[in-house]
Amino acid sequence: MKPPIIVINFKAYENSFGNKAIELGKKIEKISKEHSVEIILSVPATMIYRMVQEVDLPIYAEHVDPVPLGAYTGAILPEMIKDVGAKGTLINHSERRLRADEIDDVLKRTKKLGLSSILCVDRYELVYPFSLLRPDAILIEPPELIGTGISVSKAKPEVITKAVDEIRKSEGIYLIAGAGITTSEDVYKALKLGAHGIGVASAVMKAKEPEKVVEDFITSALKAISS
Ligand code: G3P
Repeated sequence: MKPPIIVINFKAYENSFGNKAIELGKKIEKISKEHSVEIILSVPATMIYRMVQEVDLPIYAEHVDPVPLGAYTGAILPEMIKDVGAKGTLINHSERRLRADEIDDVLKRTKKLGLSSILCVDRYELVYPFSLLRPDAILIEPPELIGTGISVSKAKPEVITKAVDEIRKSEGIYLIAGAGITTSEDVYKALKLGAHGIGVASAVMKAKEPEKVVEDFITSALKAISS
């Protein structure tokens, strides 16, 4: 993981799985390579294996369950995603919350397995306390803006600046900003406010030409970190 960090969360849209997801992944891979910016794709658990085989980008799980190996029907465990080639996982997304003790357990497991971790929080007040659990990155997303097309950069820039102040109290953890990121200006602003990267879903997954959106985002991110 290195800035600018761009995380595209596939979630559960109609193009998040099957051949459509692979096609999208390949388009994103091409743009990523052209600009030499690594893009993280977090994908549904059923797609991890195929994406790892067919798309040369870091593939993350969208969630892992905080249960040990054993009698847990339907559970997706850190060991399982590692086995199919995932590089890491999102943890505690607003759409898939965990308790604090579960987050700690999952982080210890992912670390032991050599998986990267992007821990999601819904408010800046949790950035520092959760940084003490040592994820690789914290993704801050005000839940009320997720999927709205109204970006955190524009609607709540103070959430990013305060989160940036908080992350600076811990060494070596990246701060990613997300929720409603839609335009290249949103990306530029988030990075200028001090975020190391952005997290996005709907603006890419629902776009007619997702590759153009991703290309604009990369260009803006590179502009923001070089100016
Ligand atoms: O994980 C990223 C996601 O929650 C942001 O969603 O649709 O607001 O870009 P969206």
